[in-house]
Amino acid sequence: EIFQNSTIASKIVAKEIALLIRSKQEKNKPCILGLATGSSPIKVYEELVRLHKEEGLSFANVITFNLDEYYPMRKENNLSYFYFMHQHLFNHIDIKPENINIPDGNIPFEDLNRYCVDYEKKIKNSGGLDFQLLGIGRTGHVGFNEPGSHVNSGTRIITLDHITRVDASSDFNSIGNVPKRAITMGVSTILKSKRIVLMAWGKNKADIVKTTIQGDISSEVPATFLQNHINTTFVLDQAAASEL
Ligand code: GLP
Repeated sequence: EIFQNSTIASKIVAKEIALLIRSKQEKNKPCILGLATGSSPIKVYEELVRLHKEEGLSFANVITFNLDEYYPMRKENNLSYFYFMHQHLFNHIDIKPENINIPDGNIPFEDLNRYCVDYEKKIKNSGGLDFQLLGIGRTGHVGFNEPGSHVNSGTRIITLDHITRVDASSDFNSIGNVPKRAITMGVSTILKSKRIVLMAWGKNKADIVKTTIQGDISSEVPATFLQNHINTTFVLDQAAASEL
């Protein structure tokens, strides 16, 4: 779906999430959301906060699982995804703190494998993701599933691609400060979601959007695995769709 701009598109995505939350509330069920960071989802979070404040949308039945976190990374660091999510969404809504799940970038290295297996299990035991929000990196990563990620991959530690670290370097002041690794949900974790919406804005995403939608399915561009998911929508602005 191609929209005139990211503001209009983000409002539509937020509306879909709000409808899902409300329909689960009516059935007295939890709503399990997979959430993303980066600049792409910011306006969706802004709209969800507005819906909470102005239209009484409650997040009391919402359980969230974030896609990823840098490793190593302390929660208090203002570049952490933990910080990002609280700043843009969690601090402004009525979600229960115990329902927020974000990979912990401060787990000792020797405990990581077990931690990742537990994160995966926690998603499954919650009933599985009802909705997964995604952005896309220029490498074709979703979450931090960099080129080479297997379709069956689960939550794990991953080494970041050089291009990803270059793209993050402005946030961190220099590439040397960008963590070399991250914890990420796997491709299979994402594909198990009942509904997926991937958002991409701007000209610098046009090439990777084209490869993802029209290219061959390959672990070289992990986002291409979404082509086989039965309920995925790419939500684009005109610039991101310009190469299609
Ligand atoms: C990071 C995140 C991804 C995100 C990507 C794109 O690498 N781990 O989940 O999709 O950035 O970021 P942006 O939305 O800022 O373009």
